[in-house]
Amino acid sequence: MEGKPITPAQNSSNPSASPESDQEVLQIWGRQPLKGHVKISGAKNSALVVMAGALLCPDDCRLRNVPGLADVARMGQILSAVGVKLEQNAGVLDINASHLIDAQAPYELVSQLRASFFIIGPLLARLGFAKVPLPGGCAIGARPVELHVRGLQALGAEVHIDHGTVHAYVKGPNRRLKGAKIYLDYPSVGATETLMMAATLAEGETVIENAAQEPEVIDLANFCRAMGAKIQGAGTNTIVISGVPRLHAVDYSIIPDRIEAGTFLIAGAITNSELSLSPVIPDHLTAVIAKLQTIGAKIIAESPDILRIVPGQTHCATDIETLPYPGFPTDMQAQFMALLTLSEGDSIIKETVFENRLRHVAELNRMGADIRVKGNVAVVRGVSRLSGAPVIATDLRASAALVLAGLAADGVTTISSLQHLDRGYEQLEVKLQKLGANLRRVKEGTDAANVHVPVNPGRSSLNC
Ligand code: UD1
Repeated sequence: MEGKPITPAQNSSNPSASPESDQEVLQIWGRQPLKGHVKISGAKNSALVVMAGALLCPDDCRLRNVPGLADVARMGQILSAVGVKLEQNAGVLDINASHLIDAQAPYELVSQLRASFFIIGPLLARLGFAKVPLPGGCAIGARPVELHVRGLQALGAEVHIDHGTVHAYVKGPNRRLKGAKIYLDYPSVGATETLMMAATLAEGETVIENAAQEPEVIDLANFCRAMGAKIQGAGTNTIVISGVPRLHAVDYSIIPDRIEAGTFLIAGAITNSELSLSPVIPDHLTAVIAKLQTIGAKIIAESPDILRIVPGQTHCATDIETLPYPGFPTDMQAQFMALLTLSEGDSIIKETVFENRLRHVAELNRMGADIRVKGNVAVVRGVSRLSGAPVIATDLRASAALVLAGLAADGVTTISSLQHLDRGYEQLEVKLQKLGANLRRVKEGTDAANVHVPVNPGRSSLNC
């Protein structure tokens, strides 16, 4: 293999995805009109699970369109800990998992990256045993893994939890999992992916019912199929996997990130600007585009993989309920809320996927938004302006929501705790600067005063 071994610093093409992220802040001078084209990166959630899926393969895997993100670097470190060789050149990641070792992924890494728990399925399938620390909760909720565990048990694994680590092993001479019928109580993305990977090398047929239908699940299935796995039904609620004894080398390209694309569509809407984005798969954004159109945004599918948002009328309120795909994605809830703070009327947002995913509300309110929360419901009363303020990013998508609010707010918004943002947006500042946004990343405490910026006149009429 040529190229560089993967390390956190080298993996990230995001110049700012560094351990210092939490001592840096993003200063945004708002109300700048944006204009131009954005290149959408590979999907974070696909890349992470496909990297885990590469553990299934004893030959070389080449992944393309891999985003340079802190999370991807962490997943690389986790794979290295179990003996995988990784080399990375720009967006191309070569993975060789021919010699896996009996080691445990370090808890410090697993706790920072829940997606790392996904390695349990492929490790168990390849080796007949796996030990992975329980990831624990995170900023958006408790995030248990019992659906993953029960499904692995259904496939014949013995599983016990000891000192915070899940130990799973398969008994019998060939240590192979056995196909089974598995019904998921909830269409968990992670559990569907863990079980699909585990079943690719199992003996016989596995049926996963009430499976997650997210595009990232389809991407993982396509990746596994390209390695010789037999999987049908990915993208529907029933996935059928016929186990094969071995997978083979692959060269595979990750799909574009629908959440990054949705975030940029909202950047266009919230600044009343014209932006085009590519590559995108518009079908992956159906729910987000429909909601944007409902509130008055104008979106044009310029070609099969280019979307354009053009300045439209005043945005009106709407109601949103987050749901498993193809419903409105929880990963777009915070960003859409930022937009609705400036839309005319009252919007109701119900978060049904994660129990603690409204922490950005307090920060948006610091910027002049009018949002009240009861349980998992937020009532957003549209205001005519937001004002820049110091705010703290509480999780990945909350950070994006604050960036969007900052782009539309009067004055300077200073966002801290950038480590969240760096987990999931490749070169966000660079991409926004290219569009004309006025923002910079500086050491915490840097004075934002005395920077003169022209102000976007914004929309003139209210006609909801
Ligand atoms: C994935 C995505 C995340 C996205 C989420 C929902 C990755 C790396 N992350 O997370 O960005 O927000 O899908 O679209 O792909 N649950 C259980 N028990 C389980 C598993 C899940 O109760 O064993 C619950 C979770 O706590 C949560 C809900 O199911 O409330 C959805 O979780 P899940 O679909 O599994 O999300 P993730 O795979 O963790």
